[in-house]
Amino acid sequence: MSDAVELFLKEAIGLHSGTVGSSVIDHAVKQRMNACRMTDIQIYRQHLATSFQERQELINAVIVPETWFFRDREAFATVSRHLQATPGLDRPIRLLSVPCSTGEEPFSIAISLFEAGFAAEDFRIDAIDVSSQNLEKAERAIYGRNSFRGGDLGFCAGYFDNVDVGLQPNARVRAQVTFIRANLFEWILPIGQGFYDIIFCRNLLIYFDRDTQEKALHRLGGWLSPAGLLLVGPGESGIPATCGYVSIRSPRAFAFRKAERPTGNPQPSPFARSIAAAGMRRPKPVPAMKEMPARPFSTPRIIKEIPTVPSVDRAAASLAAIERAADTGRLAEARQTADAHLTQFGPSSEIFYLMGLISDADGAAEEAIQNYRKALYLAPDHAETLAHLGLLLQRRGDSAAARALAGRLAKIEQRKRKS
Ligand SMILES: C[S@@+](CC[C@H](N)C(=O)[O-])C[C@H]1O[C@@H](n2cnc3c(N)ncnc32)[C@H](O)[C@@H]1O
Repeated sequence: MSDAVELFLKEAIGLHSGTVGSSVIDHAVKQRMNACRMTDIQIYRQHLATSFQERQELINAVIVPETWFFRDREAFATVSRHLQATPGLDRPIRLLSVPCSTGEEPFSIAISLFEAGFAAEDFRIDAIDVSSQNLEKAERAIYGRNSFRGGDLGFCAGYFDNVDVGLQPNARVRAQVTFIRANLFEWILPIGQGFYDIIFCRNLLIYFDRDTQEKALHRLGGWLSPAGLLLVGPGESGIPATCGYVSIRSPRAFAFRKAERPTGNPQPSPFARSIAAAGMRRPKPVPAMKEMPARPFSTPRIIKEIPTVPSVDRAAASLAAIERAADTGRLAEARQTADAHLTQFGPSSEIFYLMGLISDADGAAEEAIQNYRKALYLAPDHAETLAHLGLLLQRRGDSAAARALAGRLAKIEQRKRKS
């Protein structure tokens, strides 16, 4: 609809139209133009350029607020175990949830740490999001059924109060969290404030292009203590390893720590050489460890580096294994193998396509759409992905988007026939 609006969103919050799809942005712009009673996109653009309030409203309209309590539960268990196993941390332990959306994630962190035996004075959680609308909901902290999905959350009962229209984390849980409206790319760690021991940055990097992902991980690296953990979403688990982090290999937690800085002047790795040969840019390392204050870390762990140049055969065999598991209905196993594949071999259209199929078969339509979009982002002509995404969108009633994909598919097939 308007390249200028797409550019504004990319520069303001990192949102990449190629990843989320222009239709998502068009929809938000139409919604805002209606709200402003405007019919001319040029006039709306001028309004956007001069009104801070409108820029915030457009951001509110375009972001994906999807979140729920204990989403990817293993991440919370891993953090509790990590903090229990790391004696000598300065108190209070500092945790950051960015983006926190409507608050389910930071409140889940607080509950899981209470469950693990930490006292209120032992930890503090900062929770950041760019959407004023989401933060208003987070501060109200009243949650309906949609915020509690899957899994047995019975253990949480004692941490919630029944209020008229839903459940509210009790005062003890709410007191642990400070909400801050800020943009990941603009927020500055307050002077004198220590580094974070844990950063949750989940389900945000997927909306960024490669450069913006690097920029985000570079910023987070500057806020994270040397022994700290960074947690990302399952669909993002291939990203940190290419930006100066190493996986701690805790299954289904998607947890990373900053890589040690190499000493001396080592030979470039085969990975670096292959990047150079392909004319690609080398990922920026996260800030040097010496810029960070030393923190006690009494039980250093030896983490095996994930091989960076896996054999093509092993990657293909791993994809085939995922496909076999999915084909025979072993979806949990297929998911687990796909997550491991992503961590080990990095993002590719094939793995995102398979992850899309698995989520689709599992009834997780939103997740399937995200995975299919990521596959198309890496390989816009991936015919199977175009077909499956089209069917899924059709089933969800988005006929216009389904038709557009069918058109793309028809053109690809036409091209194939000609060649
Ligand atoms: C899908 S939610 C993720 C919430 C939670 N971390 C989770 O995984 O359940 C994405 C959130 O990112 C926020 N967001 C998008 N761009 C942002 C930015 N540049 N800075 C801070 N928050 C941002 C949106 O407002 C939205 O609430």
